[in-house]
Amino acid sequence: MNGTQPYPAVASVPAAAPAAAAPAVAGTAPGSMDVAGLALPVAIRLASPADAPALRDFFAGLSKQSRYLRFFGAISTPNPALLNLLAGGPSHVDAVAATAGGIIVGHAMAADGTGPDGERRTDIGVVVADAWQGHGIGVALISALIDRAQARGVTLVVMDVLHDNYRALGMITGHWPAVQVGQARDFSTVHLSLPVHAQRD
Ligand SMILES: CC(C)(COP(=O)(O)OP(=O)(O)OC[C@H]1O[C@@H](n2cnc3c(N)ncnc32)[C@H](O)[C@@H]1OP(=O)(O)O)[C@@H](O)C(=O)NCCC(=O)NCCS
Repeated sequence: MNGTQPYPAVASVPAAAPAAAAPAVAGTAPGSMDVAGLALPVAIRLASPADAPALRDFFAGLSKQSRYLRFFGAISTPNPALLNLLAGGPSHVDAVAATAGGIIVGHAMAADGTGPDGERRTDIGVVVADAWQGHGIGVALISALIDRAQARGVTLVVMDVLHDNYRALGMITGHWPAVQVGQARDFSTVHLSLPVHAQRD
């Protein structure tokens, strides 16, 4: 967790130890994870346009495969317009980042819109740094966005996932078993209905 960040933390990653990880380092704080010899706490917080440089580095540091699975294309470094979107610049975008030691290790964003039946929907995209995958960060990022979407009155969450992205599909159906998975030509479309929730002020 980074107390210097200008935005409040919105969630913490569960303290579950990575399945194949070495024993936790003595003195590791609750909620921290030991990844490749590191033992750092991971926090989920809101992203902001001030994060654009750090987000550029984060996305540039992803493997080609992770970038492809996230963007469905061979994006190398996001351009300024995309970075502004990823940083939650536009008012219809809610973006969160997972940080460890002040470094962004995961990112997710939800873009709000209106569905064909007038329902309030949001489209979520997520990616976790390769070395940090499989430790609960993706689930924590999506959970934070779903909670926030529900609080602002969204009733339908949508995620588009490439057909052979079994990891993402397994994560979603495993943690949100109520989802409905549809098939478009190039990707699966995951729908999750949210109960109407009293909106926060
Ligand atoms: C998909 C992604 C975001 C998941 O993030 P993560 O931090 O690795 O995921 P988590 O550790 O939170 O959860 C992974 C879950 O999926 C499950 N899972 C992993 N691989 C799986 C597979 N092949 N089949 C089924 N389930 C699988 C795990 O068991 C785990 O569930 P558990 O918490 O009950 O053990 C990450 O792999 C990633 O960044 N991929 C590239 C980008 C991408 O695919 N984005 C999705 C489309 S926008």
